[in-house]
Amino acid sequence: MTEPISVLAPAKVNLTLHVTGQRADGYHLLDSLVVFADVGDRLTLTPGNVLSMEVSGRFADGVPTDARNLAWRAAELAGWSGHITIEKNLPHGGGIGGGSADAATVLRAVGADVDSLTLGADVPVCEVGRAARMTGIGETVTPVADDPTFYAVLVNPALHVATPDVFAALRQRDNAPMSELPRRVAGMREWLDWLRAQRNDLQEAAIAVAPGIDKVLRGLEATPGVLLARMSGSGSTCFGLYPTLSAAQLAASAISAGRPDWWCEAVTLS
Ligand code: C5P
Repeated sequence: MTEPISVLAPAKVNLTLHVTGQRADGYHLLDSLVVFADVGDRLTLTPGNVLSMEVSGRFADGVPTDARNLAWRAAELAGWSGHITIEKNLPHGGGIGGGSADAATVLRAVGADVDSLTLGADVPVCEVGRAARMTGIGETVTPVADDPTFYAVLVNPALHVATPDVFAALRQRDNAPMSELPRRVAGMREWLDWLRAQRNDLQEAAIAVAPGIDKVLRGLEATPGVLLARMSGSGSTCFGLYPTLSAAQLAASAISAGRPDWWCEAVTLS
């Protein structure tokens, strides 16, 4: 089979991210509700004898096209060879998957059954690719049934924050896990109440590392109709939730008009 396969590597969003402890090897124990957006990097895989890679798109600058790229390492881990093109539409190092999403998408596209945690803590959940609770250091992924569709704005202020720096700036590592998830029949109101009672424990630490993140959160909080504003992953991307897609689109336009240098997208999360 030599037909190219085209696949989307969707942005992942941590609606919640609780840090509940730290292992002896330094890795942190997490409890996170992860959902996926309808925007992402576009990957095309064409089987062949040798592994090669090409990167294009808005965020192509500085993305390696060799074994430093997680998608390359995923192909190697899967024993797959051929040409991979990545249209880099997502800001990398931004708390919404980036390299992990690309790597997971390669594994899914080639049907690999490998220990994907070795590629990074976010790769297993990105392999599942739909709403899921992530625990352990990222290796335990439990899909969430019947979660609602969320309308959101994702904003990345082009601030690069290194994940280890954010974990290092954490003041407390043994926080409470998420409370019990909403009932299967829960509607949006119940989900929002639940989400508001949860946290991203990395948010304060990320703001300490990159104070500009606070501006993004306040910008989101100032948009009409916003239901909740929070950071995803270790930042710097933040999200706002809205009652409808058109409310999210209006908010995205308003934010983009004020800050054309920020990456800002209205999305559907599920
Ligand atoms: O696994 P990944 O490469 O995404 O992790 C980047 C860094 O984030 C790790 O080197 C570690 O410092 C930190 N990390 C952590 N606990 C996790 C996931 C990541 O401390 N569960």
